[in-house]
Amino acid sequence: MSIDLDEISNEELDQIELEIRSDPVKWAYWKLKDPKGRPWKARWYQKDMMHGILHGDEESGPHRRIAARMGRRVGKTETMVVFCLWYAFHHKNSRLLITTPYEHQVRLIFMRLNELIDDCPELTYSIKSRTKNPFITQFNNGSSIMGFTVGATSGNAGASVRGQRADWIFMDEIDYMNRDGIDAVTAIAMEDPRRIGIWCSSTPTGKRDYFYEICTNPDTGYKAYHFPSSVNPDFDEKMEGELRATMTKQGYIHEVEADFGEETVGVFSKTAVERAKSQYMYSYRELNAWEHEQFKKQGYSVDDIVYFTGYTRHNMPPAATRIVGVDWDKYGESTQIVVTEFDEMLKKFRVAMRYEIARGDFTYDNAVNKLIEINEIWNPKFFYIDAGHGEYQIEMLRKHGLLDPSSEMDKKVKRIHFKQNIEIRDPVTREIDKKDAKNFMINQTSILLERDQIVVSPFDDMIWKQMMDYQVVRISATGKPQYTSENEHALDSFMLTIMGFTLEFPNITKILEEIRVGRKVKVSKSNNQEALQEKVFGGYRDVYQSGKNKREIEEKDNPNWHLNKVTLGYSKRKKSSSLWGRGSSRKMGTSRSRF
Ligand SMILES: Nc1ncnc2c1ncn2[C@@H]1O[C@H](COP(=O)(O)OP(=O)(O)OP(=O)(O)O)[C@@H](O)[C@H]1O
Ligand SMILES: [Mg+2]
Repeated sequence: MSIDLDEISNEELDQIELEIRSDPVKWAYWKLKDPKGRPWKARWYQKDMMHGILHGDEESGPHRRIAARMGRRVGKTETMVVFCLWYAFHHKNSRLLITTPYEHQVRLIFMRLNELIDDCPELTYSIKSRTKNPFITQFNNGSSIMGFTVGATSGNAGASVRGQRADWIFMDEIDYMNRDGIDAVTAIAMEDPRRIGIWCSSTPTGKRDYFYEICTNPDTGYKAYHFPSSVNPDFDEKMEGELRATMTKQGYIHEVEADFGEETVGVFSKTAVERAKSQYMYSYRELNAWEHEQFKKQGYSVDDIVYFTGYTRHNMPPAATRIVGVDWDKYGESTQIVVTEFDEMLKKFRVAMRYEIARGDFTYDNAVNKLIEINEIWNPKFFYIDAGHGEYQIEMLRKHGLLDPSSEMDKKVKRIHFKQNIEIRDPVTREIDKKDAKNFMINQTSILLERDQIVVSPFDDMIWKQMMDYQVVRISATGKPQYTSENEHALDSFMLTIMGFTLEFPNITKILEEIRVGRKVKVSKSNNQEALQEKVFGGYRDVYQSGKNKREIEEKDNPNWHLNKVTLGYSKRKKSSSLWGRGSSRKMGTSRSRF
């Protein structure tokens, strides 16, 4: 039976329209188009969220605080964007602030907003202006939607967003924003907390911070939602299999199941560090009686400790391939010097000695003389020296090489600027790659640690403790992680030596690889570590990656896995064009036909 429109009065029609317009779900179905050009139909969980905002549940009333923990590609951004358009169009002079940790995310959001607007005549006609820098879409009714990046970079803790007036605040991917940024944004709602809405959504990163709090603690006043990727109608067994094959276990827990999983904060896996310090009971310094007692209590058989002490110019250690790493005192701490050797017996990198020049004792010439002495004792192949704060010393060391050619100091000293890009040749593929020095050395160290190829003395806690404490403090705008910058000088010196081995002795790398493959060592990686590493570095594909391994994975799991690679880290996110890549489903430049 068809409805005869003539029988419906204008008043009734108005009534129907009013009803539709007062509900974003109905209005979107009527007016908006989905990416395939069909009427935009809210999925059940999207309906759920919008219903909550309009009506709330029995106890709470309409929700003004939303914490949406959702898996990848579920429609976090889409739900926000649709709600924004509905709200701006139907509420005069309203202001909606959309914030994201990264610029490209704001850009994608405004691209999607524009697509929806362009496919909807009533929205197109209602637009007064659209700008990109800053991102502002203004409506004829006085409403505006504004986009900001907040709190992933230093000096961007929400400065631009501060002081803005708002009716609704949206924080997409909030778990990637730092706390200062989140605080700056939420402060906007203080003006009128009961009126101003805050909508947070993210895939969890695993950290126990603001997002974790609002998702798990109802006292924060947030309505928490949890929708794993499996709620997506496109999610099927095949996709699940593909995702599992291309993601780490922790990655899958965070990104697909949208669970917090284990807390991922440390850069190096604690269990791997534990293994590095418990492989070989050796010490390069004498232990005093008290220390003896302490280590005994901890269960060390102190009588079995192998000592490598007392080396001097006249009592040199056995020949070995060694590299010295130097990190100058910077923040009032001592200068750290680490000697690492490739231990031919163990076939591992082992810290052979650590020197410390306390700040009080420190003069430039003192440090230079110490390094000259170290050269004579250990006869290292190279000195990898931090360039910051050490220009004078580096120059002096090179001069020494010219005065005393047998020292070879002019050739051995390598000046490393942590921020510089270095060229690295992959020993397997022979490809040259440019990498950020600091991240590169951290990556190499962490891979070697995972593979049990690093040995540190359990009786010198400087290096292994700093490894355990080492953290990513934030991720920069370009997706580069920023690390702890206190109490890491001994570790930095050690990592410089590892970088030195990688760059100067690719053959050792190869040997290690062959041993690894030969022994068929099954590397047990900590999930925590893997997840973070993938976030930070975009995976294990580095010079210590064996070519054989790569091919095996290809054949076994999915022949085209490299084609539909899943985005896991910031660096990769932009490149993905698969359904499961983050961001807009449509590539730039393509546009759908309009009606
Ligand atoms: N109700 C819907 N109907 C049709 N398509 C939808 C719907 N909701 C979302 N989509 C589409 O699904 C895709 C993923 O949505 P969206 O980008 O919002 O997900 P997301 O959870 O923000 O993803 P990411 O984790 O990558 O940020 C987009 O192409 C979006 O247009
Ligand atoms: Mg999104």
